[in-house]
Amino acid sequence: MSKLDPEHEVARLRKLLQQWSAEYYRDDAPTVSDSEFDRTLLALRNLEQAFPHLLSADSPTQRVGAAPLAEFDSVVHRLPMLSLDNAFNAEDLLDFDRRVRERLAVSKVGYACEPKLDGIAVSIVWENGELTLAATRGDGRTGENITQNVRTIESVPLRLSGEHIPTYLEARGEIFMPRAGFEAFNARARRDGEKPFVNPRNAAAGSLRQLDSSITRRRPLSFCAYGVGYVEGMTEGFPSHTVAMARLSQWGIPISAHARSVDSIQACEHYYTELSQVREGLGFDIDGIVFKVDSFAEQERLGFVSRAPRWAIARKFPAQEEMTVVLGVEFQVGRTGAVTPVARLEPVFVGGVTVSNATLHNADEIARLGLKIGDTVIVRRAGDVIPQIAAVVVERRPETVEDVSFPGSCPACDSVLVREPGEAVWRCDMGISCPAQRRAAIEHFVSRRAMDIDGCGEKIIDQLVDLNLIETATDLYTLSHDTLVGLERMGEKSARKLQAAIEDSKKTTLSRFIYALGIREVGETTARQLAEYYGSLEPLYAATVEQLQEVEDVGPIVAGYLYRFFTDPVKQQMIDKFLSLGVHWPSPEIQLGDLPLSGQIWVVTGKLEQLSRDQAEANLRSLGAKVSSSVSGKTSCVVAGPGAGSKLKKAQSLQIPVINEAELMTQLEGLQK
Ligand code: IVH
Repeated sequence: MSKLDPEHEVARLRKLLQQWSAEYYRDDAPTVSDSEFDRTLLALRNLEQAFPHLLSADSPTQRVGAAPLAEFDSVVHRLPMLSLDNAFNAEDLLDFDRRVRERLAVSKVGYACEPKLDGIAVSIVWENGELTLAATRGDGRTGENITQNVRTIESVPLRLSGEHIPTYLEARGEIFMPRAGFEAFNARARRDGEKPFVNPRNAAAGSLRQLDSSITRRRPLSFCAYGVGYVEGMTEGFPSHTVAMARLSQWGIPISAHARSVDSIQACEHYYTELSQVREGLGFDIDGIVFKVDSFAEQERLGFVSRAPRWAIARKFPAQEEMTVVLGVEFQVGRTGAVTPVARLEPVFVGGVTVSNATLHNADEIARLGLKIGDTVIVRRAGDVIPQIAAVVVERRPETVEDVSFPGSCPACDSVLVREPGEAVWRCDMGISCPAQRRAAIEHFVSRRAMDIDGCGEKIIDQLVDLNLIETATDLYTLSHDTLVGLERMGEKSARKLQAAIEDSKKTTLSRFIYALGIREVGETTARQLAEYYGSLEPLYAATVEQLQEVEDVGPIVAGYLYRFFTDPVKQQMIDKFLSLGVHWPSPEIQLGDLPLSGQIWVVTGKLEQLSRDQAEANLRSLGAKVSSSVSGKTSCVVAGPGAGSKLKKAQSLQIPVINEAELMTQLEGLQK
């Protein structure tokens, strides 16, 4: 390989980064993954360090973001909004700590640790407690005035509460879109033939950049503060970041529920490991952890270099977006007969796992992405969400790409596919006569949130279906020990365990059973609402489409699916068979009757240690309580674990009883007797 000319290489990298930066910040349409951007920025920084004469003030290493859009007013930040240097491994973090300690001439430093939210940096000002200004970071010196849009975000207080509020308070933080809201938004966009967002960060950026704030209001955005900017009129300054954050929180400004202060860099690394383990379940994207020297006096002594402070660093997580190549497209038939195209990918490590498949949803999505076999794509995997293809990198398209052709008949049973008017999805309507649907229906039936039959995985179901040992889920309950032992990779012991799990599953709840039946569009929540409303199956059989719509969340479409299901004699026979085989649940009298917590509304918030959130909520429901996700005047009690934030505060301000996990356990024990 020929030796690169550093000057040319620096110019090339800068040009690339400037272009990507404009695509990312200005257009919300990135053409490369974040990690490729980071790698290129790092390569440029290394070159500039090796050849300092090539460094220039307009290099992307010295400046992030793009200039503000013309349509919004400009806001000059009273103090520049800085960015952060990155640490990519434990060694980088130790180096950071060494530099900090050397500069401060101390042996130990206290650090504040916080998740690095992947959203949009904003500055928000409250004057005499009233929100008066909100601005984007822009180029760090000048941002855009997005006050009207930020006012629409519910977690941002329009007026501060509490005591000793400064006359002028600027908080800095991140506006982000939680994953659930992002998924729901994209699902709607896909359904309506609109363009979904590539990731929650872009969704937040796009939503904030709306000139019409009524559009922003409809977007599920949140805010979390991570620092203070310019402050005036405080009797006593803040001694540290941790104290400053606590004060912001007291004034009603949301801060991270996961923040922690520690006294060594080793504890920082430990925090990083801990958070990386719960990252998936957080409900919002984070791309790393930020460590800040906690003492403000020490921060001041350390100062900053160009765009980043010397007192803070971001330790990055493995990327949740990567690029890879589409090797082919296959078609899978799901439980409801929907035919879903799935991209087979060159395996790529993304979001902590190796991904080799990604759903393409439907034919419209393939068309919208403009995807062809052989294309390079950006794959995104975050949380429990199935890997998605976020975008095609058209610039990397080779000459030899192939069009994706949708099958004319069911890939599993060869029957004709149908597409209902207004639907994007093609379906096989052979029901469980189609082996793929049969398999998927059984997989759903045994799944953890349905009948919870442990040890009955895909491989076992495949064999049972392929060998014609099972036609519907009812046949699970008549499988003999000999049949199970005869399956591949099934020993005596696992067969016995599986039989016990099948037996145990017979004792269930009505809502789990309704969910397990796999009725179209009937998820766990609807199943629970149906069970609570009707108490038993008989009234469900008799309910009309209109009556079914009296149940919360059941609209005309779902009511139609329910009606068709429960009036179908084949389905009724199947249910009767389950019951005759011993599937049962507590009788309606006990479910509807006066349970200890009947009529009460509970909220669970913060982290629980002994129980999972699901278990705590299930326990409360089994005692008759309704479990809600928000606190209101009607809330009976709040269970708050460590890290509880705004819900706890609201409960306290409304004087609603608050208990901790230990108290909940004691109450549950007492009530369950
Ligand atoms: S501190 C001077 N703390 O990351 C320090 N930033 O890559 C300025 N970010 O511009 C930032 N979570 O938008 C800080 N807990 C956190 C953060 C955080 C997310 C963002 C912020 C910043 C960018 C730098």
